[in-house]
Amino acid sequence: MKILVTGGLGFIGSHVVVELLNTDYQVIILDNLSNSSINVLERIQVISNKKPVFEKLDLRDQQSVSDFFTRNHDIDGVIHFAASKAVGESVQNPLLYYENNVNSLVYLLKELQKLPKSNLIFSSSCTVYGQADELPITEISPVKPAESPYGNTKQIGEEIIADVCKVDPSLNAIALRYFNPIGAHDSGLIGELPLGTPQNLIPYITQTAIGLREQLSIFGDDYPTKDGTAVRDYIHVVDLAKAHVVALERLINQSAAINFETFNIGTGTGSSVLEVVHAFENASGISLNYKIVQRRDGDVTAAYADTTKANNVLGWKAQLTLKDALKSAWKWQQNVVDIKES
Ligand code: WQD
Repeated sequence: MKILVTGGLGFIGSHVVVELLNTDYQVIILDNLSNSSINVLERIQVISNKKPVFEKLDLRDQQSVSDFFTRNHDIDGVIHFAASKAVGESVQNPLLYYENNVNSLVYLLKELQKLPKSNLIFSSSCTVYGQADELPITEISPVKPAESPYGNTKQIGEEIIADVCKVDPSLNAIALRYFNPIGAHDSGLIGELPLGTPQNLIPYITQTAIGLREQLSIFGDDYPTKDGTAVRDYIHVVDLAKAHVVALERLINQSAAINFETFNIGTGTGSSVLEVVHAFENASGISLNYKIVQRRDGDVTAAYADTTKANNVLGWKAQLTLKDALKSAWKWQQNVVDIKES
C-alpha cells in the first residue's frame, strides 16, 4: 500500500510517516521545506530503518501537483498536512494562508477526483470550535466563526472536502481535529522545530529551560479556571500519529462509503498552563523562570476533547501521559541543539 503524506517532514507529518513505515506502508513525502528541514528525512530513516520517497514540491503550483499524480497514479491514501499554521501570522498575512491552505487543498482534490477511489485524511484543528459553550467538546459541538484566518482555512477545508465527498462517492475522507499536539518521538531524533520565537507553550517552555529564552510569559491568570490560567488538552504527538494510521485504515478497509467524518483527537483531559509548567519542572528537574502577563488576544479559556467517538468508532485512545510528552519534549530540546549544530 502506497500512502502520500504532504508536509511529511513537518512536526506531526514526520511522526505519522514513522508510524506508517512501522506499519509496513510505502510512503511518498511531498514537502516544500518552507517550515521543515531535509535533515528530518534521514532521521526518519534512522528511526524506521526504511527509506520513504521524498519529492520537494509546493502544492500551490497546480501543474506540479498534476504532474506528480500523472507519475504516481497508484496511491492508496493521502494524509494532507501541508499548510501554514501560525495563528498570529495568519492575522497579519491572510492571503498567504488562503493561498497556501485552501488553493493547495483544491489542487490536491482535483487530482484525487481523477483516481478510481481515493482516501483522504485531513489535518484539522480544535480551533474550529472557538470557545465551546460546553466542555468537553464533542464533534457535534457547533463550529464557531473562526478567530483567525488560519482557523478559517481549517473550517473552509473541511467544508470543501465534505462538499466534494457528497458528489463524488469515489472520495472518502476523515478530518482529524487535533487538540494541542506536544512532545516528540522517544528517540529524540524528530520533534517540533519552531522557526524563530516559539508561539506555542511547550517549545517556549523547553527553550526557556535550556537557556535559549530568558523567561516564559504566562498569558493571563485571571481566567475562570482551577488556577486562573487557561486550560488545554495536550496530546502526545506519537498518540496523535497513531490516530492517523487508524483513521486511514478505516477508510482503506471500509467497503461501504464513509463519505466524510470528523474526529476529535485529544486525551479528554484539560491541563492549565500552570499545571503544565509544574509538570515540566517535575519531569525535567528544572525550575522554570516564568512571569504572569496579560492575556493573549484570541485565546480561549478552556478547550478539551470528548474522545468517545474516536474511542468507539476508530478504536483509538491516547495511551501516553502529559508527563511522557513533557519528558520527550525535553529530551528533544536537548538533542535539537546538537542537531542544529551538526
Ligand atoms: C497554549 C496555552 C496560551 C505560549 C494553538 C493553535 C491551534 C493549534 C495548537 C494548530 C494558551 C499559553 C502559550 C506562551 C503561554 N495549532 N501560552 N505562554 O493557542 O491553544 O493552540 O496551537 O493547529 O490551532 O491556536 O496553543 O501552545 O499557543 O497555547 O502562556 O509563551 O499556553 O495562552 O493558554 P493554542 P499554544
